[in-house]
Amino acid sequence: MTEEIAVIPGDGIGREVVPAAREVLETVEPGFEFVEAEAGDGVKEATGEALPDETRELAASADATLFGAAGETAADVILPLRRAVDSYANVRPVRAYPGVDAPNPETDLVFVRENTEGVYAGHEAEVAPGVTTLTRVVTESASEEIARYAFEYAAERELPVTIAHKANVMAETDGLFLETARRVGADFDVPHDDALMDALAMHLVQRPEDYEVVLCPNLAGDVLSDLAAGLVGGLGLLPSANVGEERGLFEPVHGTAPDIAGEGVANPTAAMLSAAMLLESLDHDAAGERVRSAVQATLASGPRTPDLGGDATTAAVTDAVVGRL
Ligand code: NAI
Ligand code: MG
Repeated sequence: MTEEIAVIPGDGIGREVVPAAREVLETVEPGFEFVEAEAGDGVKEATGEALPDETRELAASADATLFGAAGETAADVILPLRRAVDSYANVRPVRAYPGVDAPNPETDLVFVRENTEGVYAGHEAEVAPGVTTLTRVVTESASEEIARYAFEYAAERELPVTIAHKANVMAETDGLFLETARRVGADFDVPHDDALMDALAMHLVQRPEDYEVVLCPNLAGDVLSDLAAGLVGGLGLLPSANVGEERGLFEPVHGTAPDIAGEGVANPTAAMLSAAMLLESLDHDAAGERVRSAVQATLASGPRTPDLGGDATTAAVTDAVVGRL
């Protein structure tokens, strides 16, 4: 059966890097059916809706979705899209690559971030003028689901797990997260320990090589993975997957990069590596590996975009990767 891929470029450099990643997919796996849809600031300006129903429905029914980025409307687009594909895990591999000037070239780890609750559950209020509150939601069921995902991921790759938390202060919410993750971990033959997330931030900078799979509550995973991005040479390199039981949504970690949008110089690496994760989620492992190798070889020898110190365009880098494929 033909697999259907929803393609949602969004705004800004999403419209430059997503077509590059689509070209890579078309080259390695010619059988996919691609369906394009709109989301973000541009479509909101035109129609009043940042996430049109047809886009949401497409993501909810396609076998996988490739997304770029949305601008000011990001929260109105990406949070409902992640829900549309029923994703509970946000997977962010962070790696230093040969040929790329990385502040810490030893970095090679994966963040597995809870994707549905915590402080992003949306329970914020102004309770009186000048007084605001936020309710942090942590459930045993969501903690168990994300912990199981992280331990299965680690077991398959024979890697250890570090559980990030702040249970010394948030005793109820992170207490439950930590206790649940430890209970799940006991079912696996996977070495694991835990770390207070503030101290972990420092250790990640000093000794990223000590970490492999880092299991995080929602906000901690968002912040710590961006911190790790800084260790490998920037956001242009970081892919991510939002995974659920049935389907996934794959997107570069970066946003719309308004400072360079429209110039044709965005780094397509993050979007291409997101496409590799998409391929693997559909069990096209060999194709995923071919994309990864072609991207790595291109990073090593060039051409490179300006964020990596080069002067190549998105199109030149894309041609080089496609040529290798
Ligand atoms: P950003 O990721 O768009 O840009 C941060 C910096 O990294 C900029 O200097 C940019 O030029 C650079 N950069 C990012 N990706 C790059 C690439 N592929 N190649 C070369 N350089 C790259 O983050 P920023 O500036 O905080 O946000 C810009 C807009 O994007 C905002 O409107 C924000 O809401 C949105 N955003 C959307 C996200 C999403 O849709 N998932 C995620 C993050 C931000
Ligand atoms: Mg973020």
